[in-house]
Amino acid sequence: MMRVLILALAMVFAVRLTAASAETVGFSQVGAESDWRTAFTADMQAEAKARHIKMEFDDAQGSADRQIAAVRQFISDHVDAIIIAPVIVTGWTAVLKEAQAAHIPVFIADRSVDADPSLYVARIGNDTNLEGRLAGAWLAQATRGHCTIVEIQGTPGSAPAIGRKQGFATIIAQFPDMRIVRSETGNFTSDGGRQVMEQFIKSTNGLKGICAVWAHNDNMLLGAIETMKAAGLSPGKDVLTVSVDGVPSIYRAMLAGEANASVEVKSDIGKYIFDVVDGYLSGKRDYPKWVVIPSDLHTPEDAAQMLSRHAGQ
Ligand code: AHR
Repeated sequence: MMRVLILALAMVFAVRLTAASAETVGFSQVGAESDWRTAFTADMQAEAKARHIKMEFDDAQGSADRQIAAVRQFISDHVDAIIIAPVIVTGWTAVLKEAQAAHIPVFIADRSVDADPSLYVARIGNDTNLEGRLAGAWLAQATRGHCTIVEIQGTPGSAPAIGRKQGFATIIAQFPDMRIVRSETGNFTSDGGRQVMEQFIKSTNGLKGICAVWAHNDNMLLGAIETMKAAGLSPGKDVLTVSVDGVPSIYRAMLAGEANASVEVKSDIGKYIFDVVDGYLSGKRDYPKWVVIPSDLHTPEDAAQMLSRHAGQ
């Protein structure tokens, strides 16, 4: 009888302990527009599971309005913390103030926002301007500063489209013989890249005089590569390519001789994000406003090595 009683008490105690440590976190994700994005979502889900954190997940499907509605839902669900990977940089102040009034800490992941930093705890993410500069510097070096470029931009108003465009422009401005002659958005999707490249091919008479394609992410470039090949061009040879993300398919394209360089953006950043969230919820307060995730550039020289890091994807 005594043993049964002790066992029952131990079970009640264990359940209480689990309940006390379980956090509920709302995560509003941009969408599933690219391989990078789906890898990031999978990493966040795996990290939450490993830490026994309950994650309410919303896919904004690329809609800023839907994303704000999801954050409002997290607030009314009284989650312990909110993580936002913002679709675009603007429109955040009102809802961030609502979260603050409800005493729910907000963490900005991956892309940045244009809002007063006092409205969120920290941003954990990469430096998009640096990514543009790394891409521009690689192209300047590869072409000795002589190159006519077509650019495929990311989603208008998103932090990576703004930062990468500016960073790249800063570098090529130092080379009088480097210039962008066409620039359109492909919305970070492979299909967008295909369509934009079709227009470029038409309007430049088959990319005549074009030395390189600069795409704000790999998926748009991969779509553009398909279109170039279908038009009888040889991407990676006739026309150089440089893009951002470092997804497995871009390294495969490099090994096939169809792509030249990509700036890797780490997608397995759930551990850094949840370290900050967990730390904050346990009372730690001395976080920098921006926890920087480093990025670096890769070429066919180390493509096989990079691909082996993504084995299974
Ligand atoms: O915010 C990161 C960017 O968003 C990735 O580079 C791109 O692939 C994604 O859509």
